[in-house]
Amino acid sequence: MKQKGYADILLGLQFGDEGKARVIDRLAPQYDVIARFNGGSNVGHTIKTNKGIFVIKQIPSGVFHKKTKLYIGSGCVVDLEKLATEIDQLASVNLSVKKRLKISGQASIIQPHHVLLDEMWGKGVGTTKNGIGPSYADRAMRMYGVHLANVRLGDLRDDPKQFESCVLYNLEMTKKRYKLTSEDTEKIMQRLKKAFEKVAPFIEDDPLYLEKKVEKGARVLFEGAQSAMLDIVKGSVPYVTSSHTIAAAAYVGGDLSIKYHRKTMGVLKAFMSRVGYGPFPSEFGGEESEEYCMETAEGKPVHSKEAESTYDVDELLTSADHFYIGIALRRLADEYGPGTKRPRRIGRLDLVQLRYATRMNGVDELIITKCNILASFSKTRFGGIPIVDGYKLDGKTIDYVPVSSEAFYRVKPIISYEKPFTEDISHMKQYNQLPSALKKHIKLIEKASCCKVIAIDVGPNPDQHITLP
Ligand code: IMP
Repeated sequence: MKQKGYADILLGLQFGDEGKARVIDRLAPQYDVIARFNGGSNVGHTIKTNKGIFVIKQIPSGVFHKKTKLYIGSGCVVDLEKLATEIDQLASVNLSVKKRLKISGQASIIQPHHVLLDEMWGKGVGTTKNGIGPSYADRAMRMYGVHLANVRLGDLRDDPKQFESCVLYNLEMTKKRYKLTSEDTEKIMQRLKKAFEKVAPFIEDDPLYLEKKVEKGARVLFEGAQSAMLDIVKGSVPYVTSSHTIAAAAYVGGDLSIKYHRKTMGVLKAFMSRVGYGPFPSEFGGEESEEYCMETAEGKPVHSKEAESTYDVDELLTSADHFYIGIALRRLADEYGPGTKRPRRIGRLDLVQLRYATRMNGVDELIITKCNILASFSKTRFGGIPIVDGYKLDGKTIDYVPVSSEAFYRVKPIISYEKPFTEDISHMKQYNQLPSALKKHIKLIEKASCCKVIAIDVGPNPDQHITLP
């Protein structure tokens, strides 16, 4: 028998958008399967091709590597229409997923009424309005009396007529109950059926599919979505997503037994960002920034990427008001949602939060993205690289992330400044070329997190990264 395979996990350690997809793209050739274990179309990875720009939401990030198999595990929720579109778009740029993609039949579908409910109830959290929360809620609900709440891909494939009628019933009941209007129900159902026909060949009926592959030697990389601080239980509840995002969830939602675990890698951004409402102690501009980055009632960003593109970044960086430094970093690092163009809230690197994430997830190795942006701090009035290395809660110093989001909101960050560097590091290829201030900064992160930093990213292009000795 061939030697047994193994599984590694890669996840985001902050509030999402750490740049996991590009790291996975780089690591993909070392693995046979890239597998998603949580979330759905609330993710957004931009793929630039000469046929246009696509945002991939549900297909795992290894898609560029034609030999890599792709797996969407039972822990995910699937939007059939969006997935069908992704499959077509990828095929149009010669990236067919035929014979490469498998989707667990145990994964639930996002039903049309889930999207209506998310649009109605998701405002307080600032969800992505993809129906993710309501779909996971229906999974837990299982049935409403005698009516099925949770519809899984495997159910739909087994008996399309029966399960389509459940979807229709759930949609009509929801509209009636909440007096909601939507597009013509018949049209919605026709689109859903068409999308299902496209997705059906990819459904895997055997719950041991991945287990059998790894038994025969396959190397799996689990791709986390949404990151540690957005975990439904361990994150900043209630301002979180509705699935488990942490490492321990990879084997449940990714359909593999834990005996194959080898190591966990964590990705963090050299500064931080957050989308949606929720506590973020290291945020530049605090509450003002949180409100500024929100949407109007119509779901449009109040302050768009276009509007901010006219600002003078160097002038903003020298401002005495930290709120403007946040805007400058957002511009420099292009921190806007790929679909919505929502401005992301920007903050300093928070070591208290990082320690929580690395310990909770048992992280072995770190990858730090967007390190080139750190040079901008040399232009600010405070002159150094800011980090949060402690919290004060109601006047007391604490060294942990408080459970209550109310308390997490009240936390005052203890900020210190590391020696800055001015060099443009974006063209550098080797560790020994890096400014000594950055090397020191990396060591500080290693010490605070008890993890080894294995690589850093120094620019937006795929080749702008440095492997550390
Ligand atoms: P939901 O996952 O759409 O229910 O959104 C719940 C919260 O998670 C909101 O604050 C979202 O902005 C956030 N969120 C969901 N997906 C992502 C992501 O991929 N990156 C960053 N934030 C996310």
